Amino acid sequence: MTEKEIVETSESEIAVHWGEEEYFHPSAEFIAQANMADPDIYNRFSLDNFPNCFKEYADLLDWYEYWHTTLDTSDAPCWKWFVGGKINACYNCVDRHLPKYKNKTAIHFVPEPLEEGYHHITYQELYVRVNEFAAVLRDDCGLKTGDRVTLHMPMVPELPIAMLACARLGLIHSQVFGGFSGRACADRIVDSGSQVLITIDAYYRSGRLINHKEKADLAVELAAKEGQTVDKVLVWQRYPGKYSAETPMVEGRDFFANDLVKEKYGARIEPVQMPAEAPLFLMYTSGTTGKPKGCQHSTGGYLAYTAGTSKYVQDIHPEDVYWCMADIGWITGHSYIVYGPLAIAASTVVYEGVPTYPDAGRSWRIAQDLDVNIFHTAPTAIRALRKIGPDEPKKYKYHFKHMTTVGEPIEPEVWRWYYHEVGKGEAAIVDTWWQTETGGFLCSTLPALEPMKPGSAGPAVPGIHPVIFDDEGEILPQGAGKAGNICIQNPWPGAFQTIWGDRDRFVSTYYGRYCKDPESKDWRDWPYMAGDAAMQAPDGYYRILGRIDDVINVSGHRLGTKEIESAALVVPEVAEAAVVPVAHEIKGKEPDLYVSLKPGFENTPEMAKKINDAICEEIGKIAKCRKVWIVKDMPKTRSGKIMRRVLGAISNKKDVGDVTTLANPDIVKEIKQMNADPDQ
Ligand code: WTA
Repeated sequence: MTEKEIVETSESEIAVHWGEEEYFHPSAEFIAQANMADPDIYNRFSLDNFPNCFKEYADLLDWYEYWHTTLDTSDAPCWKWFVGGKINACYNCVDRHLPKYKNKTAIHFVPEPLEEGYHHITYQELYVRVNEFAAVLRDDCGLKTGDRVTLHMPMVPELPIAMLACARLGLIHSQVFGGFSGRACADRIVDSGSQVLITIDAYYRSGRLINHKEKADLAVELAAKEGQTVDKVLVWQRYPGKYSAETPMVEGRDFFANDLVKEKYGARIEPVQMPAEAPLFLMYTSGTTGKPKGCQHSTGGYLAYTAGTSKYVQDIHPEDVYWCMADIGWITGHSYIVYGPLAIAASTVVYEGVPTYPDAGRSWRIAQDLDVNIFHTAPTAIRALRKIGPDEPKKYKYHFKHMTTVGEPIEPEVWRWYYHEVGKGEAAIVDTWWQTETGGFLCSTLPALEPMKPGSAGPAVPGIHPVIFDDEGEILPQGAGKAGNICIQNPWPGAFQTIWGDRDRFVSTYYGRYCKDPESKDWRDWPYMAGDAAMQAPDGYYRILGRIDDVINVSGHRLGTKEIESAALVVPEVAEAAVVPVAHEIKGKEPDLYVSLKPGFENTPEMAKKINDAICEEIGKIAKCRKVWIVKDMPKTRSGKIMRRVLGAISNKKDVGDVTTLANPDIVKEIKQMNADPDQ
C-alpha cells in the first residue's frame, strides 16, 4: 500500500486535512497542584532506563512479594512483566485504602431517573459488598482461580463490584458491553469458556427501563448450541426485591444475585495472592475477521500501568471527583473508571444513562451536584452535547481542572468548544490515544508539562517510544509530513498478553508486519503495530488519522466491517455484503451496507429492514447501518474482489477515481445514481 492509499483508506480521512493548530497552555494553578510537573520523568522513562523505569508505576501498588525479573522476553512477543511478583488487584483497589479512606466515596452512582438521586458508596461499603459477592462466586458457584466468568452488565455499581469480586478470587472476568445482543454475549461466553454469566434484570436508558434478562436467556441458549454450558446465571435486580423483567427465571439455573449476597452477610474473603502475570480479564474487540478477539490483560503490569497513567495523565488525587463517561463495557471504563482510579483511591462516578437525558443540561448538573473536577469523555459525546446544547455548560457552576478526550480524533473546532465552553477556559485537556489491546494511554500530553494542541494526541506518554514506518519498513522521521503505520518500539506493562486462545493471530496481527526476526527473544526486534495511520509533526506531537484495517469507529466504538458483513449474510436471501464507513456529524463514522441478493429476490424496503434488523440482533443496535443499499452487483476487480474503496467514495459523495479497470464499471454508475436518489 502506498502512503497515499493509507491516508485515503483510513476511516478518519478528514483528520489528515487538519492544519497544525496553535498551542494552549495549562494554567499556573493547574501546574501547581499537578501530580506530575517534573520534566525529568521523560529521562527516567527513556529507552536507556527501560524496562526498570516501570518500577516507578509498580511501586504505586502494594505487593505481597516483589518481582525478580522486570521484563521476561523468553516467550517473545508474549512479554511477561514483574515476574515472580505476587499481587491482588482487588486488594489494591479496595482493602488497602481502608485505613485512610474507608469513609470516603469510592463510587458515586448516578441512576438515570432524576428522582432516584445520587448514591455514594464508600470504600468500606465497597469492601463489604465485594467480599460478600466474592463469597457467592466462590461458595455458591464453585468458581476457582483461573476460571472465566462472563458479565453482561450495564452501568450500575454491581458491575465494578462483580469485577472486583472476580479479581479478589483470581477469576478472569469478561465483561460484554451491555448494549450488545444476546448473540454477541453468547459468542464471548463460548470463546472464553465461561460457565457462569452475571447479568441484571433491567436498566434505564433514555427514560426507558430496558429488559436485559432476555438477552441472557438467548445467550445461554446459543452458547449451549455451540457446546458451552452455562450452569448458573446470576441476575442482579435493578430494584432489589422486585423483578423488573418479564422473562421468567429458569429454575436451578437463574438466581437473584442480591438474594444470594444476603446469605453471605458478614463474609470476608482473603484476597488470592496472584502471580503478576496471571490474567485479570478478557476484553473482546473487533478486528479484521468476523470473530472478535479476546484481549487478555495481566494483573500486575496492567494495574501498575493504569494506576501510573491515572495518576500522571489523568492527574487524579484522592480529593478529586472524577467522572469518566465511558461505558465500563469498553476498555476505557475498565482502565479509567474502575481499575486505574480505584487503585489510587479516587472517587469515581458511574452514570447509568445517556448524557443528554432528559435534557442537554443533565451532564453539567451531575458535574455541578457532585462537584466533579476531572471529566473524561469521547469526541462523539462532545459533538452531541455541543449540538443540542452549545450554551448549556455556562449555566452550571461546576469547575473542571482537567478534561480528557479518547477514542477517535477530535476535530479542532469541537476541541475548542470543549476547551472554552465545557472547560470554561480553565481545564487542561489531554487527548489520549490508545486501544483495547494497550491497556492504557500511549500518546497524550502530560497535562502540566506540555501545551495542548487541538486535534493532536500529543507526544508519547513516559515509557512509550513510538516509531512510524512506511510500507517498506523505513522510518518516517519527525516532521516528515507523511503518514505511516504507527508502532511502539518497546513493550510496556499495560499491553495485553495475547489473544485468548489464539496466539498465532496475536503474533501475526500485531507483530507480523514489522518483526525483524521471528526467532528473536530481544524486544527490539518486535515493534507493536497498532493498526492506525499517524503522522508526527515537527514538534514531536502525533496526529492519529484512523484505522488502516477493516475497523470502523462508530461513536468511538470499534466495529469490524467483517462482523457486520457476516451478520448481514445470516439473512438467507443475501448473496454478498460490503460495509463502508460514512462520515457522520455526531458519530464520527457510520456503517453503510451494500448487499446483493441471491437470484430471484427483489429489492424491497422490507428486505432492507430485515437485513438491518438482523445486524442489530446479531451484534447490537450500535451496529445499525445508515442505509442498506440493495444493489444488482458489487463493483469488482477482474479477480472478483469487491472494491470497497469505490463504495466508500460513493457513500461519502467523493470522487470514485478511475474505475475503467473494474470487471463491471457500469454498476458504479448505477450505484451512484441510487445514492443520488435514495428513495427510488
Ligand atoms: C482510535 C479505545 C484518535 C484508534 C481506547 C484506535 C483514537 C482505536 C484515539 C482503538 C485518539 C483511540 N485519537 N484516534 N485520541 N483514541 N482512537 O480499542 O483508531 O475501542 O486504534 O480503544 O480508536 O479503539 P478501542
